[in-house]
Amino acid sequence: MGRLAYVNGRYVPHAQAMVHVEDRGYQFADGVYEVVPVIDGVLIDEEPHLDRLGYSLGELRIAWPVSRNVLKLILRELVRRNGLRRGIVYFQVTRGVAPRDHKFPAKVKSALVVTTKRMNPPSEAMLRDGVAVSSQPDIRWTRRDIKSLSLLPNILAKQAATEAKAFEAWLVGPDGTVTEGSSTNAWIVKNGAVITYPKSHDILGGITRLSLLELVQKTGVTLVERGFTLKEALEADEAFLTSSSAFLLPVTSIDGQNIGNGKPGPISEKLRAIYLENVARQIGAAK
Ligand code: PDD
Repeated sequence: MGRLAYVNGRYVPHAQAMVHVEDRGYQFADGVYEVVPVIDGVLIDEEPHLDRLGYSLGELRIAWPVSRNVLKLILRELVRRNGLRRGIVYFQVTRGVAPRDHKFPAKVKSALVVTTKRMNPPSEAMLRDGVAVSSQPDIRWTRRDIKSLSLLPNILAKQAATEAKAFEAWLVGPDGTVTEGSSTNAWIVKNGAVITYPKSHDILGGITRLSLLELVQKTGVTLVERGFTLKEALEADEAFLTSSSAFLLPVTSIDGQNIGNGKPGPISEKLRAIYLENVARQIGAAK
């Protein structure tokens, strides 16, 4: 059987997975989403992802479409039915279906869609050479902590980066500070200290970022949560990015300029290894 999707209570063939034209996600991007990595069929960091979903829903006053426990069952069931070993499970919740009107509908049931996607691990070349980043202006709204479906500025930045032959865009605020990537968190290493933007309304609090921060704290590597400028990033010893799909990838150039010696740095490689050990532990515990 082909790939299935879950749409509002039903498992349906992916190619026929549809929502109503008046779903507020479709018309207003009035909804939120999560992306959870799946390795060896195991959902990695599932609980913090569900915590963040609850936070995003709460901030927008959207009701859980099903209880947290039922949602966990649905995620597992779709991963199982699709035989997904490695990839991601994507789920989004919108405010629901109602006649188009900006204000919240009086009576509406939130809508849930879940899909899965197979994904290969990052290529050998990406790990060996690192990836290129292109700086782009951060033109987003001021509540980036909410994992909103509304991603136009992120899409435009990623497209501009792609056209500049870069893997990711690093978003730069008017004061020259790098907030994060278009779909990843941004990090630099300078004089042995690991630096990343503090958790706030200015960035999406990445789950990979959160896990890595906890792991870094145990290693004795110095950690500083503060903004860094694009200039500082260009002069850094190392740089890297994190996300649920990439985990941790070394960044070896920004706007065509090498970072450090232009090769993945030792701290980035060490942190990637530590992160992967944590993933392996979760897989072991789930089996
Ligand atoms: N992106 N910052 C932004 C703007 C993001 O969209 C993401 C995630 C991250 C990293 O968060 P996490 O570690 O929880 O994946 C940071 C997902 C993967 C996406 O949109 O596909």
